[in-house]
Amino acid sequence: MMILNYRATFTLFILLFLGINTSVFSQTYARNGMVVSDSEIASQVGVDILKKGGNAIDAAAATAFALQVTHPTAGNIGGGGFIVFMKSDGNVTTFDFREKAPLAASPDMYLDENGEVIGNINHLSSKAIGVPGTVAGLYKAQQKYGKLDWKEIVQPAIDLAKDGFEFNWSLYFSGRYFSAQETFPFMKNYFLNASGELIQPGETWKQPELATTLTYIRENGRDGFYKGPVADGIVEFMKENEGIVTHEDLLKYEAIERNPMHGTYKGYDVYSMPPPSSGGVAMIEMLNMVELADAETIPFNSTNYVHLVAEAMRRAYADRAEHMGDIDFNPDLPLDHLISKEHAQNLFNSIDWQKASVSDSSKFSQLYDGESTTHLSVLDKDGNAVSLTYTLEFGYGSRMGSEKLGFIFNNEMGDFNPQPGVTKRNGQIGSDPNQIAPEKRMLSSMTPTIVAKDGKPYLVIGSPGGRTIINTVFQTVLAVLEYNMRIDRAISALKIHHQWLPDRILYEENTLSPDTRIALEAMGHTLVPVSNLGVLMGITYDPEQQLMTGAADASSGEGAAVGY
Ligand code: GLY
Repeated sequence: MMILNYRATFTLFILLFLGINTSVFSQTYARNGMVVSDSEIASQVGVDILKKGGNAIDAAAATAFALQVTHPTAGNIGGGGFIVFMKSDGNVTTFDFREKAPLAASPDMYLDENGEVIGNINHLSSKAIGVPGTVAGLYKAQQKYGKLDWKEIVQPAIDLAKDGFEFNWSLYFSGRYFSAQETFPFMKNYFLNASGELIQPGETWKQPELATTLTYIRENGRDGFYKGPVADGIVEFMKENEGIVTHEDLLKYEAIERNPMHGTYKGYDVYSMPPPSSGGVAMIEMLNMVELADAETIPFNSTNYVHLVAEAMRRAYADRAEHMGDIDFNPDLPLDHLISKEHAQNLFNSIDWQKASVSDSSKFSQLYDGESTTHLSVLDKDGNAVSLTYTLEFGYGSRMGSEKLGFIFNNEMGDFNPQPGVTKRNGQIGSDPNQIAPEKRMLSSMTPTIVAKDGKPYLVIGSPGGRTIINTVFQTVLAVLEYNMRIDRAISALKIHHQWLPDRILYEENTLSPDTRIALEAMGHTLVPVSNLGVLMGITYDPEQQLMTGAADASSGEGAAVGY
C-alpha cells in the first residue's frame, strides 16, 4: 500500500479538488515560477533568482552558470548553445551563441594527403575545439532582457565552485571512468581531491580554479572571458596543446539575436531555433506533416503512429541533410519553403500507409553528433519563458581543459562535415552548407522550443541527444498537443528516432509491444532497440488554473523541476 505523508496527502487533496490528474508525483507544481534542469541544485539557483525579483532570462542565465559547476558533462562556459525567449507580451526572440570555427580553420583541416579524415581528430583533439559562445550569449541575453545586476547572476555559480557542493553518483561514475585512464590528462585529475583521491559520493567537491574564472566573468561580463586573464589562459592552453583558437578569435566572437522559426500546429504557435540549428526547421516540417493525418484514427504507440512519425522523420531529415548549415554563410537556405504547409502536403502525400519508404542514399546523410548536451526550461510569474539548450558536444566535450581555468573545452568542430564532397552510408555527409570555414558556425540539432496558446507560453521543452534531439522534442510536443498527455507522461512516453540514413528506426527498448514491432517489420521497417532517447526538461502552463507543471526526465540522474 502506498503511504503518503501529510504534505503529499494535502497536495493530493488540493489537486483532486482542482480536477488535476495526480496518479504519480513525478511532476512539480507552482504558481510563481519554475525552473527545470539536469541538476536540482542548478534549478534551485534559478528559482532563488526568480524569488529575488529576477525574470526568466535572469534565472536561465544563473542556472546555466550553475550547471557549469554541478553538471560539467554538458553544463558549460567552454561550449555554446541557443536560447528561445518568449516575453510576457507574446513576442519571441532567440539568441545564437553557437561556437564558431577558428580563423585558422579550413575545409580540409582534418584530412591526410589521401584526403581521408585522420583518426578521430575532428572529434577528439585540440583541433576539434570551436570558439566558445556561452558567456557571450548569456551576457547578451541578460543585459538586454534581464532585470537583475549581472553580478547576482554569476555569484551563485561562484559560491558553488568555491564552497563546493555534495558530490553525487553521476559525477562519481564519471570520475571513476576518467581517473582510471591516461588518455585525457585534464580529466584524469578533474575529480580528485587535494590528496589525489577520487572524491566519494556525499563528500564536498570544490573547484577553486573555476571559481576564479567565474569571478572574472562576474566582474567584467563578456570581457571577463574573451579578454584578460581568462582569454590569456585559453590561448596559453591552445599554444601548449596545438589548438588553434587565438586572441583574435575570442575578441571577434559575437552572440547573435535572431528571429525564431515559427510554425503552427492545430492553432498552437510553435517557436524554435533557426539555423545554425536544424532543429526548428525539421521539427516544424514534421509537425506540419503529422497535422495532415487523421489523428483520431491513429492511437499513440500504434503501428500507424510509429509508421507516420518515422516517415515524417525520414523526410524532414533528408531535407536537413541536403539544405542545412550556418545561415550567415548560406543566405539562400530555403527556410520558408521547408516549413511551409504546401511542402508538408507534398511530403505527406508521398507516405505509403502500407509500407516503409526507402531512404534515397544518392542524396546525403549526416555524421554522428555528440549527445552530451543539456536543456533547461524556465517560466516566471509574469509569463516570460526561456527554453535554453547548450552543449560541449561529447560528454565532457573535448575532455581537455586548462588546469588554471578549471573548465572543459567543447569539441564542437566535429559537427561540421569533415570531408568535402564525401558522403558515406554510415552517415558521413559531404554537402556544402555545413563545410568548415573560418568563423562559420557548425550545424546543430538543438531544438529549444516554446509552444504558445493565445500568445502565452503553453509548453517549454527541450532535450540533449545529438541528432535525436529534434525527434524527441517533436514527439513530446505531439504527445502534449495531440495526445493530451501530462508533461511527465509526455516526457517518459515512447520515443523513436529515424534520421533518414541509416535507414532504420531506433526505439526505446521495452516501450514498443512485440506485436507492433512485428507489424512494422512486415511493412519494411528495420527496428533497433536503444536504452534511452532524450533527457527532456519541460514545463506546461494551464492559464485557467494559473498553474505551472514541470517535469525532469527520469533518465536525468540529478535533474529536477523546482518551483515556488
Ligand atoms: N552537438 C550537438 C548539437 O549541437 O546538435
